[in-house]
Amino acid sequence: MSVRKESKTRQKTAVKEKAQVSAKLIPIYIMGKRYEVPEGLTIMKAMEYAGYRFIRGCGCRGGTCGACGTVYRKPGDYKLQVALACQKTVEPNMYLAQIPFFPANRAQFEFAELTAAPEEIFRLYPELFRCVACNACTKACPQGIEVMDAVSALKQGNIAEVARLSFDCIQCGLCASRCFGELAQYHMFQLARRIYGARIAPRAQHLADMVRKVKEGRYDGMLEELKRATVDELKKLYQEREIEPIGAGEDWRPRDTRYL
Ligand code: FES
Repeated sequence: MSVRKESKTRQKTAVKEKAQVSAKLIPIYIMGKRYEVPEGLTIMKAMEYAGYRFIRGCGCRGGTCGACGTVYRKPGDYKLQVALACQKTVEPNMYLAQIPFFPANRAQFEFAELTAAPEEIFRLYPELFRCVACNACTKACPQGIEVMDAVSALKQGNIAEVARLSFDCIQCGLCASRCFGELAQYHMFQLARRIYGARIAPRAQHLADMVRKVKEGRYDGMLEELKRATVDELKKLYQEREIEPIGAGEDWRPRDTRYL
């Protein structure tokens, strides 16, 4: 995440907003400097309250993009902690700093040349076997992933299990930041998931059928109709479209089946 201090005008606006906030103020230290911020804010909002503006790397603000890795320590505690700035709320006297980007090793490869043989991942990431099973990666994961278990599965060549265990990974890199063995777990897992999707997972017959229909030109006429439509006509079509009900089962079908 990249941040910079705000201009004077923006700082004045921030000061006004501060006056409107009635929550109790607590001290925190952002990159060594003390600020007072309302309790209950996330680290990201607290930094903005303190006058910082995120100019890149703060993506989703919802805990899904992994761009806002933060390292912090609480007073009297030797232990460094990690968190997502958009999720973790501030605590009194927390010392924190952003991790703009974690420069873990990311192997170079031609994906099309890779097979599902686990040895290929071993060759690309030989440091995998430096894992000492300390579990620091699992403790650091803001997604609650059993990172060390996924590393073990990868060492055993079980790519499907790695894909399953790491499905919720958001690539924040916090596991790698705490790893004694200097592994880049998140990059290894991403490769495993890609291999699983491309080479191991069963093919979906309905997808193959749809691709065939598209290639046969089944939708060409409909596409042309859409291309000729005015903006208002497109809006009407969009607004009147039949929406799949929430909780609809696998067998749900729209009334108009022309597009299936
Ligand atoms: S901003 Fe996307 S995870 Fe925090």
